[in-house]
Amino acid sequence: MPPGAQFQPRQIEPDDLLAGRIEAHYTKVLRRLLGAHALAEKLTAEGYRRAAATLSDPELKRVAEKNLAEELKHAALIYRLLEELGVSEQSADRASIALRRAPSFEAPRCFAENAQGEMGLLMGSVSLDMTGLIMIGVNYRDSSYAPHARAAEAILEEEADHDEFGAGALRVAVDRMGAGAVAEGLRIWLPMAVNFFGPPGSGFSFDCLRYGLKQKDNDELAGLFISLMERRLGQLGLEMPRLSRGYPHTIV
Ligand SMILES: [Fe+2]
Ligand SMILES: [Fe+2]
Repeated sequence: MPPGAQFQPRQIEPDDLLAGRIEAHYTKVLRRLLGAHALAEKLTAEGYRRAAATLSDPELKRVAEKNLAEELKHAALIYRLLEELGVSEQSADRASIALRRAPSFEAPRCFAENAQGEMGLLMGSVSLDMTGLIMIGVNYRDSSYAPHARAAEAILEEEADHDEFGAGALRVAVDRMGAGAVAEGLRIWLPMAVNFFGPPGSGFSFDCLRYGLKQKDNDELAGLFISLMERRLGQLGLEMPRLSRGYPHTIV
């Protein structure tokens, strides 16, 4: 629980909100957070759909199709939580139109719009599954909103599987396509992956931390991702591309 958070993990149920026992601003912040989470799952599903359609290797195609089905399930889980709060999928998506174009959503947007073949599958998995695993595992599993914490628990098992695939695929990709091609892909995708955590110290994040809807600020999670990625790349003899310090990060 973040220091000074007003609510404990899993303290709040939908009835508390509907009965007006919790300040209205909590629901507003929660709806926005769930809208962003749902959109991320939905765009990830679209990327896997696109990648699956362009893959020829039957094993990779099978994995992309499995991940597609699971990401659709994750999106449906989160949209259901929004429904309970009186927000339809359509209006949640409408409310996050600006977010879709933000630097923090460049990775899922690119994956949804451009994922192609093996490299697309690999880069999507590296930038969306590993980051998702961190966000959901660190931030949402202990959410003060009990239904979000429960959904996170259900999502986590499958995401761990996706991430394991991503780690294995990175190794295979280096063997098949060469370290140079993979390094080039990482130079494009890693800054987007780090930006996926969002800007540090925003007012919205402050509210999420204060309400116990997030456990850590975005830059802490981004730092965790960078150190895990550095280790993973190091094991394959690849170097972590150097990133600019400020958000949105770019290659330097
Ligand atoms: Fe997911
Ligand atoms: Fe995933």
